[in-house]
Amino acid sequence: MRIILFIFLVLTNVAFCGENKNESSRPKDAFFRNSQIGRGVNLGNALEAPREGEWGVRLEEGYFDLIQKAGFTSVRIPVRWSAHALNEPPYTIDQSFFDRVDWIVRQALSRNLVAIINIHHYEDLVESPKEHKDRFLSLWKQISEHYKNQPDALYFEILNEPCKKMTSEIWNEYLDAAIKEIRKTNPSRMIVVGPVNWNAISELKLLKLPPEDRNIIVTFHFYSPFRFTHQGASWVEDQGKSWLGTTWLGTEKEKQDVITDLDKASLWSKENSRPLFMGEFGAYEKAEMQSRIRWAAFVRSEAETRNISWAWWEFCAGFGVYNKNKKEWRADLLQSLIPPKQEVK
Ligand code: BGC
Repeated sequence: MRIILFIFLVLTNVAFCGENKNESSRPKDAFFRNSQIGRGVNLGNALEAPREGEWGVRLEEGYFDLIQKAGFTSVRIPVRWSAHALNEPPYTIDQSFFDRVDWIVRQALSRNLVAIINIHHYEDLVESPKEHKDRFLSLWKQISEHYKNQPDALYFEILNEPCKKMTSEIWNEYLDAAIKEIRKTNPSRMIVVGPVNWNAISELKLLKLPPEDRNIIVTFHFYSPFRFTHQGASWVEDQGKSWLGTTWLGTEKEKQDVITDLDKASLWSKENSRPLFMGEFGAYEKAEMQSRIRWAAFVRSEAETRNISWAWWEFCAGFGVYNKNKKEWRADLLQSLIPPKQEVK
């Protein structure tokens, strides 16, 4: 009997210690932190407009309640810091703008949402990287110092969609410098970074990350097929007019195209031991609603099957899952992103 009791105690102790060990090592693991992003939404067209409100969205406290209650677990907050900082050294960021971002970050974190802030629409940087390198790094120095005492649930994303003159060679150098800058004050904060060509999956292979830094989540954006997701969008070629009417019916071929891309991303993730975050995916309002719903549900579920966290582009503007004029969710679109519990696979 004693022997049995002894074996029982040893076994339970081993199990208990094992669990403990997992618990304490888990929070530091980028894969775990990526799972905490889980299902997110971009607070787009607000702080990345030249001035908040100019693109029709001003963030309100009630939005954060709605987002949390709907079942989202994170928000990505695009921020145009470059429009709120001096153009000359020391490139000081306006205190009043910091105050505004602080308020938004607080709204998210106080509702247990992971908050990802980035540098968004720094157009001069991607047009003339060399001329703007110091300013870019100075922005990160200021942002890092400012938020260094914030909870771990605040993540930093280095730059939205590096593109144009930001070649992979230049980008790899700049991202490394930005990470070094951030690490001076935030030694273990989660950093999100993605490849060139507007965060394309095809360019993941060109991304060079500091091998020893494991607190990094890699991001990509997914808008394929582009002629479907961007039909009628004023900021693309020919304003996407010739693409109007493109549907997404979920044919075998359409599905296979999504699968092929996500498999490619997933393979890269496995080979490089880096977690993946699909930081933007969405289909514009000019596309037919049933197609948007089908596409959103399929892409979302294929991402989740591969443990890819995601954030829908975006909350309440042209791609919006929420109709801010009617003050209601686009219920079917929301369900395609956050399916009712019994349907969760
Ligand atoms: C851009 C937005 C655009 C969206 C879809 C984002 O990265 O910042 O302005 O609406 O992609 O094209």
